[in-house]
Amino acid sequence: MNVLVTGGLGFIGSHTCVELLNANYDVVIIDNLSNSSIDVLEKLEKITSKRPKFYEIDACNKEQVEKVFKENKIDAVIHFAGYKAVGESVSEPLKYYRNNLDSTLTLLEVMKEYSCHNFVFSSSATVYGSPKELPIKEDFPLSTTNPYGTTKLMIERILADVSKADNDLSIIVLRYFNPIGAHKSGLLGENPKGIPNNLMPYIVRVATKELEILSVFGNDYNTKDGTGVRDYIHVVDLAKGHLKALEKSTNFKGIEYYNLGTGTGYSVLDLVKTFEKVNNIKVPYKIVDRRPGDIDACYADPTKAYKELGFKAELDIEDMCRDSYNFIIKNKSN
Ligand code: UD1
Repeated sequence: MNVLVTGGLGFIGSHTCVELLNANYDVVIIDNLSNSSIDVLEKLEKITSKRPKFYEIDACNKEQVEKVFKENKIDAVIHFAGYKAVGESVSEPLKYYRNNLDSTLTLLEVMKEYSCHNFVFSSSATVYGSPKELPIKEDFPLSTTNPYGTTKLMIERILADVSKADNDLSIIVLRYFNPIGAHKSGLLGENPKGIPNNLMPYIVRVATKELEILSVFGNDYNTKDGTGVRDYIHVVDLAKGHLKALEKSTNFKGIEYYNLGTGTGYSVLDLVKTFEKVNNIKVPYKIVDRRPGDIDACYADPTKAYKELGFKAELDIEDMCRDSYNFIIKNKSN
């Protein structure tokens, strides 16, 4: 089975390619390298001893996407490519709407032309807005607080409409909670350019002394220690969830939505303390004001993914902290 992976050299995309290649899928990657590096291709080969087919193209460019479909019989698409920085989406909303929506529309149009019916989409728990209850179930009301989140929600709506209009389609929407960790080999991981926005990338930079101190955004939330609680999931578990979704997409028609999380919430201080313990290193921090738009707590009810996909996260918070640090120390000079 030939799987097209858009954004296949990115953080989650590359880990998913490893799992696909190890499971003997034929993988075709498209990536415009806007937030990834071509070196990842070599690393995928090093880990799996297989070299996926690669096109350096933009998923918004219809002619180029058509060329990929013409040259390869694509059976399914996993669509990761997209901009994902919340803060940037607030200052540059047009860039986010144009890119994230255009790429999805282009893929869906070309899939229709070439009679490809299976689509797995990277959505986010951000579509739940500020949930009224926890844990979060897939049928909770949806809302967003920033343009990045709105692109995810708009795409979910587009997919629902497209699915209604075309009975041949199988669409799986995966709502990720907070992916962290890295591949055990230390070859793949998350290494954002500039000052990181997300918690784990910031913690590792403080641990390596590239940044001085972690700012903990608020300790007066309604949580056990006052700091924000999230459902961190190891990126390798998340990648495996995509294979389960792909299997599901080949034996059903319609659209389904699944949370990919562990079901357990950890606070900012839980993460800092676990990181310090497993890596035997200090992470200095200070408490500062809340970050606007942040919520108290967010964690998944993972039951639906377990029952219907057979997906269960296996790696724990210690694995996540160990693997995130291992990746950064192995790639520090880059
Ligand atoms: C954010 C996005 C989410 C996206 C995810 C990617 C929103 C509202 N959030 O989630 O859509 O999928 O990133 O992983 O759209 N924190 C600190 N100090 C820091 C950074 C973070 O204390 O320097 C705290 C935050 O207040 C929060 C927790 O750490 O409580 C996690 O933050 P972060 O890693 O940025 O993820 P989210 O905001 O949950």
